[in-house]
Amino acid sequence: MDKFYNVTDAFTMVHPLTLVKGKNARVWDDNDRSYIDFVGGIGVLNFGHCHPHIVKAIIQQAQSLIHYAYNAAAHQPYQTFMPRLCELVPISGELAGMLTNCGAEATENAIKIARMKTGRTGVIAFDGGFHGRTLAAVNLNGKVAPYKRGLGALASGVYHIPFPSPDNNISDEQAIDALQRLFMVETDIDNIGAIIVEPVQGEGGFQLLSPTFAQYLRKFCDEHGMLLIMDEIQSGYGRTGTPFAFTHLGLSLTLFYLARVLRAACP
Ligand SMILES: Cc1ncc(COP(=O)(O)O)c(C=O)c1O
Repeated sequence: MDKFYNVTDAFTMVHPLTLVKGKNARVWDDNDRSYIDFVGGIGVLNFGHCHPHIVKAIIQQAQSLIHYAYNAAAHQPYQTFMPRLCELVPISGELAGMLTNCGAEATENAIKIARMKTGRTGVIAFDGGFHGRTLAAVNLNGKVAPYKRGLGALASGVYHIPFPSPDNNISDEQAIDALQRLFMVETDIDNIGAIIVEPVQGEGGFQLLSPTFAQYLRKFCDEHGMLLIMDEIQSGYGRTGTPFAFTHLGLSLTLFYLARVLRAACP
C-alpha cells in the first residue's frame, strides 16, 4: 500500500498561498509574487521579516548555544533578557518573569499561579475573549466556534461575563450586573481565584476594555482576594504604543506574567 506523508488538514487555511521568503512587511509566494503582510505571524513580528539585527542575533546565538532547558541549567541570554524585560513593566515592587513557548502556556501558568496563591479554582473570563487552544486555555475562551466546537464537556469552574468597551454597545453597568448575577446564580464568590482579561481583545474584534471597568475590576479583585490577570499576548510588547497595553487603562497589577512566542526564533 502506498504511503502518503502530508501536513494535517486540521488547519483552517486562511490564505491559499505557499510562502518562501519575507523581508520587512512583505512576503513572497512560490510563484515569486509579493504581498504586503498584514498577518505578521499573528501580530508577533514587531520588526517585520528578517530584520538584520534580529537575524544577526539569531545566528550568533545559534553558533554558541542552540537550546538548554532553563530548569536543567541556567543560561546567560535568559538571565540578561529577563531583567531588561521586567524593567519595561510599569509595576512597582519586585518583578520576576519566565518565558513560555506559547501564549496558551502563559495563560495556563497564570491560572496555576492564581490557584496556588489563592487556594481557589474558579476563574472569570470574558465573552469574545481568547486565551489559547490547549485544553485548559480553550476553556477560558469566550467563543464556542471554532475553539470549543466538538470538544465535548470541558472542566468546570470558568465563568464568562460581557466585555464592556467603548468599541461595542456593552456598558460597565451591564458587565457589573452580570458579575453580580454570577455570585447569585452560578458560584460562591469565595470560589473565584482570578479574573483574566485582555486589555484589548484581539480575536474578539480589536476592542479596548473600558478603562473605568478595568479600574473597577482592579478594586474588586483587591477587595475579594482575587488576582487580576492581564493577557497581553496580542496587545503587549509595544503593539499599542506603550510597552504594555494595560497602562492605557489607568491601573496597576499585582500579578503579571510574560509570554513570548519565540516563533521568530524557532521556525
Ligand atoms: C490574547 C491571546 N492570548 C493567548 C493566545 C494564545 O497564544 P498561542 O497561540 O501562542 O498559544 C493568543 C493568540 O493569538 C492571544 O491573542
